[in-house]
Amino acid sequence: MLMQTESKMQREKDIRHIAFIMDGNGRWAKKRGLPREYGHKVGADVFRKTVEYCDDIGIHCVTVYAFSTENWKRPGHEISAIMLLFKQYLKDAVKTMMKRDIRIVFLGDKSPFPKDVVKQMEEIERDSSQNTKRLNIAMNYGGRAEIVHAVNELIAQGYEKITEEDVTNHLYTLDAPMPDLIVRTGGEQRISNFLMWQSAYSELYFTDVLWPDFTESDVDQAVAEYKRRNRRFGGI
Ligand code: FPP
Repeated sequence: MLMQTESKMQREKDIRHIAFIMDGNGRWAKKRGLPREYGHKVGADVFRKTVEYCDDIGIHCVTVYAFSTENWKRPGHEISAIMLLFKQYLKDAVKTMMKRDIRIVFLGDKSPFPKDVVKQMEEIERDSSQNTKRLNIAMNYGGRAEIVHAVNELIAQGYEKITEEDVTNHLYTLDAPMPDLIVRTGGEQRISNFLMWQSAYSELYFTDVLWPDFTESDVDQAVAEYKRRNRRFGGI
């Protein structure tokens, strides 16, 4: 079923799902002699614009890596700044996303977040659940932890033998299509525990552009590169 969907996709070369590792906020700020927090603030604006632009060009599922399970190791003031930006985002996200018919799903373990934030996240997920397009926000997310979470759910449900489809259906991404293209900004060329299961056949695109400098034209370049590639999914 999965492979059929993916080979149909290959013929059409349409991107159904694009994912972003938004890297380089800190370096962008440092280069300007500004605190790292300022890089995140500009990064949050770029995140908003990028999601809207992907929708404008017909990509119906977007995933962003906003905060990893490893990001808790950062200094307290930087974590607080990211949380504040996140809360501000949650406040106005609903309106924009409802207008655009986009459902928001948070990937990751919500439990370490303050109760009011968890409540806000759950409300947004519930209120937007009937929308047809999709934005996944990976928040306190790790790809390996997500697979372990899926398997633990299967064990709790009494499974003794599992299939790939069972695991897929218990990931945080649930019914989202597999990512066709994963874009990482900021010059590093690695996946960093992002969508470990889902990225098995994803095209990877790395750019030196730092996330706060990332523009619509950079999205266009990544999409153009994707269209030049020939995805075979293990076939010939
Ligand atoms: C990576 O850059 C970025 C992050 C760890 C945080 C991303 C957060 C945002 C874009 C804004 C807040 C999020 C939401 C959902 C509104 P880095 O700090 O690792 O940069 P560096 O590699 O240059 O140090």
